[in-house]
Amino acid sequence: MTTVIDGKQAAASVIEAVTAAAAALERDTGRRPGLAVVIVGNDPASHAYVSSKSRMAKQCGFKSVQHTLAEETSQETLMALVAELNADAEIDGVLVQLPLPRHLDSDAVIQSILPEKDVDGLHVVNAGKLATGDAETGLVSCTPAGAMILVRQIHGRDLSGLNALVIGRSNLFGKPMAQLLLAANATVTIGHSKSRDLPALARNADILVAAVGRAEMVKADWVKPGATVIDVGINRVPAPDKGEGKTRLVGDVAFAECAPVAGAISPVPGGVGPMTIAMLMANTVIAAYRANG
Ligand code: GUN
Repeated sequence: MTTVIDGKQAAASVIEAVTAAAAALERDTGRRPGLAVVIVGNDPASHAYVSSKSRMAKQCGFKSVQHTLAEETSQETLMALVAELNADAEIDGVLVQLPLPRHLDSDAVIQSILPEKDVDGLHVVNAGKLATGDAETGLVSCTPAGAMILVRQIHGRDLSGLNALVIGRSNLFGKPMAQLLLAANATVTIGHSKSRDLPALARNADILVAAVGRAEMVKADWVKPGATVIDVGINRVPAPDKGEGKTRLVGDVAFAECAPVAGAISPVPGGVGPMTIAMLMANTVIAAYRANG
């Protein structure tokens, strides 16, 4: 029987622990964790993600602030806001929602966030700590950290002897995911659009992680029987069966055909997605404890 991994339930446990930790911090220091989320422009999907981040921060008992800036905001204005948030003692975490409008230099903005407030784990200091095996003092990118919790539910903490394939090589997901799997002793391959034979690489993977942003790209004959399949894709596709103009969310994995082959598989929605937001809250509470410890 295939295990369908319940990301909602795993996220709810993380949120429960974070809420308790936030309450304890407030009781002991009189100070709540503070999260600032910055969004530039009008992308509807980004606005939806950011609202749910701000809402969840409130639900966890955090101070939650959202800065919504116009599409034509200049680099200077955005960097000045980040500098202000860096200096604000009530703010422990600063998240600038990506992608930014094309005229802005995302990397310069991300690198201007104080590493200890970089709850996205994107600053070179945090990426470098992860890459050099410092699991204690940095902050790890939320989606890979959440995906890793789901992998551990199936395999435990030690992945010795297991082959893992991560499809996708972004700084936000693919690279940190590969580092986390490697730190847990998996034998890790990173596949991407220039890889020669992704299906063959996939068929060798005991743990297959798909983060390419292509709807249902991973097919049943890519999956090694019994493998753990983690689907990080969120793709909106037309769903004419639901009515004209309707859409549905699908992952990068063709769930219906892959599920019978896999040993465990995360669904979309309800898999990795809820974990991302939960890990953002976890990173914020960690940053708050470090700032007040
Ligand atoms: N855009 C899509 N996912 C993310 C994320 O995890 N962090 C940020 N900052 N932007 C995103």
